Amino acid sequence: MKITLSVIKADIGGYVGHSSTHPEVVETVREFVKKECEKGNLIDFDILTCGDDIAIVMTHNHGVDSEVVHGIAWNAFEKGTEVAKKLKLYGAGQDLLSDAFSGNVKGLGPGVAEAEFEERPSEPVVVFFADKTSPSAWNLPLYEMFADPMNTAGLVIDPKMHEGFTFEVLDVYTGKAVKLNTPAETYDLLALIGTVGKYVVKNVYRNFDGEIAAAASTQRLSLMAGKYVGKDDPVLIVRAQSGFPAIGEILEPFSKPWIVEGWMRGSHNGPLMPVSFEDARPSRFDGPPRVIAAGYQIAEGKLIGPADLFRDPAFDKARRVANDMADILRRQGIFEPHRLPADEMEYTTLPKVLKKLEGRFYDAEAQRVEEEEKVPEKGDVD
Ligand code: F6R
Ligand code: MG
Ligand code: MG
Repeated sequence: MKITLSVIKADIGGYVGHSSTHPEVVETVREFVKKECEKGNLIDFDILTCGDDIAIVMTHNHGVDSEVVHGIAWNAFEKGTEVAKKLKLYGAGQDLLSDAFSGNVKGLGPGVAEAEFEERPSEPVVVFFADKTSPSAWNLPLYEMFADPMNTAGLVIDPKMHEGFTFEVLDVYTGKAVKLNTPAETYDLLALIGTVGKYVVKNVYRNFDGEIAAAASTQRLSLMAGKYVGKDDPVLIVRAQSGFPAIGEILEPFSKPWIVEGWMRGSHNGPLMPVSFEDARPSRFDGPPRVIAAGYQIAEGKLIGPADLFRDPAFDKARRVANDMADILRRQGIFEPHRLPADEMEYTTLPKVLKKLEGRFYDAEAQRVEEEEKVPEKGDVD
């Protein structure tokens, strides 16, 4: 049976501030989607939260980019926004950038990751969901899962994985995408996706048969809205086992925290901390950025789960290391490289400060030469 797994997420109001979601809002979204499911518009659904974001996980037969499915998510988020506004939650409706739904949520604000595939005899998937960071946060772990044999033993020893994977990479500024085949084009891939402010991995396909292996949300709210409206906290779907990376190979990159863009005011570098559902509530300096991993078995389109995959002492060390990294970065305060470079910051006063000081900048070198010329040389004095 061919099914589509769609994960659509939005921040429709924070409780308290930008730290978490409010149960009443989450329940309102859940109730709305449940009714749509009962009407037969969806096969199944689940609701996940991470920080101040809500994700609707849906299975259905409408394919990707479906007006029906995107409409359900949009309307559910609108209903949730009404409650968020009533409770005066922080930034109520902040990711619903348009007043009217026009058939597809892409470009409107919510983040979307979707994959259509033939359900295998057993279909394990992982939905990752992060807060206080951007879609480029997935670049490094996707490379490790699908192209690094030191992470994923299956690339070497599973016949279906041995031919490698193809990465579809999007330039978020131009909207153009390119497909790069690994292992042959690994270095070209890394040349692009190491540039995290510009290139993000959108999809990954298995070379053996072209099957979709992973799909990420690639929206960048800051670019879409033309002004800052909140970091585009991303979601990611990864298929697992029998010819795809094993659950343990998919989770392994997160055991070694790395630094991502986001954190306070979307303007800082910080470690991505893998946490349980319960601990997905960023607090310290609005962070550090968090990621949860929800595991499902899909059975005739039904979502069996979720399993809280980072709720495991095996990730305690990663959490400790992430906290140590946070201390080191916080020591830098407002200085780079903790603070992002000027053109990557979501908030900035730099142009205003520069404008104010415009007339006060002087040519320091010319002044030095002038001063030097004024000093009388030895022998000039009578
Ligand atoms: C970052 C984030 C928060 C806010 C910060 C300031 O993605 O959500 O760090 O940027 O709390 O928020 P405002 O400007 O709304 O007071
Ligand atoms: Mg928020
Ligand atoms: Mg958020």
